[in-house]
Amino acid sequence: MSLTAAAGGFLLLLTVSVARGEEDWGVTYTPTQICALKGSAVDIHCTYSYPRMNDEHTDEHTEVLTTFWFTKERNDEPVDLETDSGYAGRVESQCERNNCTLTIRDVRRSDSAVYKFRFETNQRRGKFSGSPGVTLTVTDLQVKVSRSSARLVLTCRSSCDVADHPSYVWYNNGQKMEEDVSTYRVSVNVNDSFSCAVKGHEEYRSTPVYRPNLPSVSVSPSEIVEGSSVTLTCSSDSNPAAKYTWYKKYGRRALSEKTQFVFTSIKSSDSGQYYCTAENELGSRTSKDEGHFTFINVKYLPNLPSVSVSPSEIVEGSSVTLTCSSDSNPAAKYTWYKKYGRRALSEKTQFVFKSIKSSDSGQYNCTAENELGKTTRLIFISVKYAPRVPSVSMYPMGEINEGSSVTLTCWSDANPAAKYTWYKRNLNSEPQPLRETLTFVLRPVQSSNSGEYFCEAENKFGRNTSESTVIDVKYRPNLPSVSVSPSEIVEGSSVTLTCSSDANPAAKYTWYKSD
Ligand SMILES: *[C@@H]1O[C@H](CO)[C@@H](O)[C@H](O)[C@H]1NC(C)=O
Ligand SMILES: *[C@@H]1O[C@H](CO)[C@@H](O)[C@H](O)[C@H]1NC(C)=O
Ligand SMILES: *[C@@H]1O[C@H](CO)[C@@H](O)[C@H](O)[C@H]1NC(C)=O
Ligand SMILES: *[C@@H]1O[C@H](CO)[C@@H](O)[C@H](O)[C@H]1NC(C)=O
Repeated sequence: MSLTAAAGGFLLLLTVSVARGEEDWGVTYTPTQICALKGSAVDIHCTYSYPRMNDEHTDEHTEVLTTFWFTKERNDEPVDLETDSGYAGRVESQCERNNCTLTIRDVRRSDSAVYKFRFETNQRRGKFSGSPGVTLTVTDLQVKVSRSSARLVLTCRSSCDVADHPSYVWYNNGQKMEEDVSTYRVSVNVNDSFSCAVKGHEEYRSTPVYRPNLPSVSVSPSEIVEGSSVTLTCSSDSNPAAKYTWYKKYGRRALSEKTQFVFTSIKSSDSGQYYCTAENELGSRTSKDEGHFTFINVKYLPNLPSVSVSPSEIVEGSSVTLTCSSDSNPAAKYTWYKKYGRRALSEKTQFVFKSIKSSDSGQYNCTAENELGKTTRLIFISVKYAPRVPSVSMYPMGEINEGSSVTLTCWSDANPAAKYTWYKRNLNSEPQPLRETLTFVLRPVQSSNSGEYFCEAENKFGRNTSESTVIDVKYRPNLPSVSVSPSEIVEGSSVTLTCSSDANPAAKYTWYKSD
């Protein structure tokens, strides 16, 4: 018999008692090993004994004051199981004379432990805990599943032997199927749920094995922005544990064979529908079985907008449409501005000039904006137009004297820049082009240069003509010519002498008679 002393000096005392041939201090456990099914009730038995004579050699009889069961010690003191909250309402201990029983109901795996009995007497050192105690192992039955061609091979297992030669009972969806076989061969249907029990303990059944339930899918985070990390998680109630596989709708290959699929940096092209499959030996389910796909909608900042101008050549007076477009999710809001303009021109993707003016030329910008931010594209618009009425300047101004020089300059506002041609008006014929230059120089000026000049400005959109500029060349009188009329002069008749000379302005004449 092996004894454990609660206090140091106790062994000595014990030796004395034994030597005196008295009844010994002791606890006997029967049995010392118990294997119990989870959920069942267990009785642990012991009998205890102690010397009737006390150690002080007095006449006082030894009395048992308290008895209890324990598995743990605190500060070297055994803790009464009935005060342990882990056993609350599940334990009961009873003694009949020296015969004691601990009953534990609804045993749990955590109840697996060594249970010892202790009794305390009225003697100074008379406290005794019995070793080795009872080893309780709580087991649950498990169905082990393997496949043999088209059939399943189910084996009922427990971690310790509940009975000496256990015989098993098999159930499908709670209906008894088979008895007295430890290995059960079946062909499986979708709703099958197999469990086993030890015969004689039918109420404590194994956890059933069944194909996975419809998997549920979670996406984290719920708001998905391009570049962020996104985790898809597939889970399904299943026994044995399921193996998971992730797919993208229309995708050829599996994305992941784990319960989670992680996009470390999600792209907009990852938007789409996803589903997962949970599979064990009894079958498989996929999250799309009831038409439920997991939709991933990747949001992103608008791309740099692309801008188009229609028509491509912008001519004054025509209708012109500016169109801004950008790829974004969610869809962008567009705003058109003219540079330095205070107000938005348009809050639509298009802005239309019904009849564009040359003053509409300039820089424009289009902004595409969504909840993630905005991007802007600039464009330059150049409105084309025919030359305006050209203006002419003459240098020097004022009187033009024969022999001096004169410069005429033509200028017209036009886009693209105009080409210039100078003309002189003729009395009886069409004006002939003189020179195709911006400036027209007369040097030296001759009297024959007098006349009306004008210029014409032209580009591919039209032509326009300036008003006429008059050049009036001043010159000295020529040698005068004298004429007499009539040619035959008769006394008494009238005679006219005429003096004439070419001059600009007209000359003043003076007649003299020479001596
Ligand atoms: C002790 O009690 C148990 C159950 O109450 C009984 O089976 C056993 O025979 C008893 N043993 C003794 C020695 O009285
Ligand atoms: C399986 O169970 C589901 C729901 O209980 C039922 O709708 C379905 O018909 C069952 N399938 C078979 C093949 O028994
Ligand atoms: C677009 O034009 C508006 C109006 O001139 C201006 O306020 C805004 O800053 C411009 N945006 C960019 C990005 O140039
Ligand atoms: C000439 O210019 C004027 C404005 O300066 C303009 O109104 C007119 O249409 C132009 N003529 C042609 C033929 O382009």
